[in-house]
Amino acid sequence: MTDTLSKKQKASADFYGQYFWKDYEIEENAHLDFVIRGIGQENLENAQTLLDMGAGSGKFSILLKRRFPHLEITSVDLSPDNIATITRNAQMAQVNIAPQQASVTDLPFESNQFDLVLCVYMLQHTDAPAQGFAESARVLKSKGTSFYAIGCDNGLSNIHHGSRFFFNRVPAAWRKPSVYPLLPVYWALTHVLKSNKASYEELSKDLVDWLYNPLQNFVPKSDIQNWFAQHNLDFEHLGYTGLFKSMMLCRGKKQ
Ligand SMILES: C[S@@+](CC[C@H](N)C(=O)[O-])C[C@H]1O[C@@H](n2cnc3c(N)ncnc32)[C@H](O)[C@@H]1O
Repeated sequence: MTDTLSKKQKASADFYGQYFWKDYEIEENAHLDFVIRGIGQENLENAQTLLDMGAGSGKFSILLKRRFPHLEITSVDLSPDNIATITRNAQMAQVNIAPQQASVTDLPFESNQFDLVLCVYMLQHTDAPAQGFAESARVLKSKGTSFYAIGCDNGLSNIHHGSRFFFNRVPAAWRKPSVYPLLPVYWALTHVLKSNKASYEELSKDLVDWLYNPLQNFVPKSDIQNWFAQHNLDFEHLGYTGLFKSMMLCRGKKQ
């Protein structure tokens, strides 16, 4: 499966698996509220199965399983290191979920299999966001609900592409210290632009993510609504997150 993936796609999964989510400790905090609001409390209570696409540390899967123990949760990620991290985090949290290594652009599941699909902060880190979206809709059951946070094009993706040559060469050990001098400016901007962030630790993670992740395939906003229509999902816009409000939150209901 991984043989056909692009170099950039592999680098993206390696960045998150071997560096970004490694040793990430899951705490009960704003993440659970965020994901319950996104999917909808009632949808979570009435569902049996949930797929978490590009699950990273597994934080959303694990927090949801704790709050809604009846759910059967499958957590997919391309990085084998993330699968190990999710397995370890789930064991520590004493919850039973099913981590599985796969690409969201070619999911190893039957069509119409899941009541709920979670696809947050991840499609823009794949080399084929439209294909990942199509897969999310394919595996969702009729009348099922999907929740997305999708990075939208805000003009900065060209700067991101152009600067990879430089940032890809910075050794992993220097990444975190390199963002410290930028933190006061970033903190001030989050306040001026009213973007809620919990802590300095979260701010430094954001900056490390933006500066060093190898693949940022931001999607034009107009494409997102078209994708919903093409795949028979009713579109509900839930707002934006991120400093420049570039992450679109939206929910789909399959017809
Ligand atoms: C920014 S992280 C988001 C993780 C999680 N959804 C969250 O919000 O905490 C993006 C994740 O997508 C994963 N990923 C990137 N491309 C993927 C692909 N084609 N298939 C599956 N996972 C992928 C990365 O390994 C990484 O864990």
